[in-house]
Amino acid sequence: MGLRFFALAGCFILTAVAEAKGHQWPTFERPVAIRKMLANIGRAGTTPGLVVASPQRSDPDYYFHWVRDGALAMSEVVSLYDETGSSRYENLIQDFIALTREQQGANAKTGLGEPKFEVDNRPYMGPWGRPQNDGPALRAITLIRYARIKMSQGQSVADLYDSRFPSRAVIKLDLEYVSHHWMDASFDLWEEVLGDHFYTRMVQRRALKEGAELAKDLGDPGAAAWYLQQADQLSRLIERHWDSRQGLIRPTLNFSGGLDYKSSDLDVAVVLGVLHGHTDDGFFDYRDARVQSTLRKLILAFQNLYAINRNDNLPAVVIGRYPEDRYAGSNFNGGNPWVLATLAVAELYYRQGNRKTADEYLARVSAHAYPDGSLSEQIDRRTGFMTSAADLTWNYAALLSTLRSRGELRSR
Ligand code: NOJ
Ligand code: NOJ
Repeated sequence: MGLRFFALAGCFILTAVAEAKGHQWPTFERPVAIRKMLANIGRAGTTPGLVVASPQRSDPDYYFHWVRDGALAMSEVVSLYDETGSSRYENLIQDFIALTREQQGANAKTGLGEPKFEVDNRPYMGPWGRPQNDGPALRAITLIRYARIKMSQGQSVADLYDSRFPSRAVIKLDLEYVSHHWMDASFDLWEEVLGDHFYTRMVQRRALKEGAELAKDLGDPGAAAWYLQQADQLSRLIERHWDSRQGLIRPTLNFSGGLDYKSSDLDVAVVLGVLHGHTDDGFFDYRDARVQSTLRKLILAFQNLYAINRNDNLPAVVIGRYPEDRYAGSNFNGGNPWVLATLAVAELYYRQGNRKTADEYLARVSAHAYPDGSLSEQIDRRTGFMTSAADLTWNYAALLSTLRSRGELRSR
């Protein structure tokens, strides 16, 4: 009874808040997201350039640098630098490059596949799902974008990429790792399943393709050919994730360990793979029929799963990682919708050109956000209130990326 009343009261409050926030929310939220994302980079007492996943230190403890989250956040810093030219952003990127150099040279358990670092930048040594081979690929993608900006300014990028062998340049080291390890089994981006993942393969493919272009432009044709060759092999394997019988892109093939209760073959990781792995060659493009079919099935699954998705007064629906998820942050008593998962669906709709539906997903996120714009990792599936890690850095990065996709749509 108590819980039920709470849930009803929650929905009532959320409905009222959604109406009050209306269409102003993106304008209100963007500077909040920038401020809160930057607050998690190089915090007092941590290494400069280090990105904590969240300032929260217990239940759950997210006070670590995850290579994936760090690369995604820095990608937004690169975009902010590109937009403003501000030295504040450039200094952060330079700190991140120095941090990366130290991580690449560290004695981590699975080398560059190490997913997680302590805030003093020592590799995490406890038991963990490793390697996570999306990390170096995402980092290369981010730093290649930065290198491109520097090159367009006529500046040297020798500290980022060179044709020496072995090289000590950060992008080159990541590309060498990706090109020699994409065939290894890896833990997925949710750090739970060992196998071959659509998400990981898509970002590895993008890193290798964009890396090949960079290598070519910087006079390293041998490396360019090698990276392209590896990318082509990946393309062929990624095709196999399409399951025509089920009409969906499977998140994982060749399961070889970890959590084994994911039976639906639906995972928002596929949407994230399409977004983060997109490079301008039309491969698994936003409007690809296979992507559309997967998206429809994913939305339907979550629509039926959460009680708060049966509230007709709120637009769109909230989306989780995958339907069988049990991780609630501090326990395994049941999975929740996630902010970054719901934003991924919004962003895919923007990139498909469907502004109306995308806006509804964004409005839906605003209905669950704290009034001051703070975004925690998860949304309680019964009450609709923010839960799990507070001020998740990745959420703010996802919000900024989603708003950029929205802006690009408007200016077309
Ligand atoms: C923490 C991970 O970050 C999360 O994604 C996962 O669900 C749990 N550990 C369980 O492995
Ligand atoms: C758990 C998520 O599953 C994983 O993707 C993320 O890297 C960590 N939390 C840190 O935010």
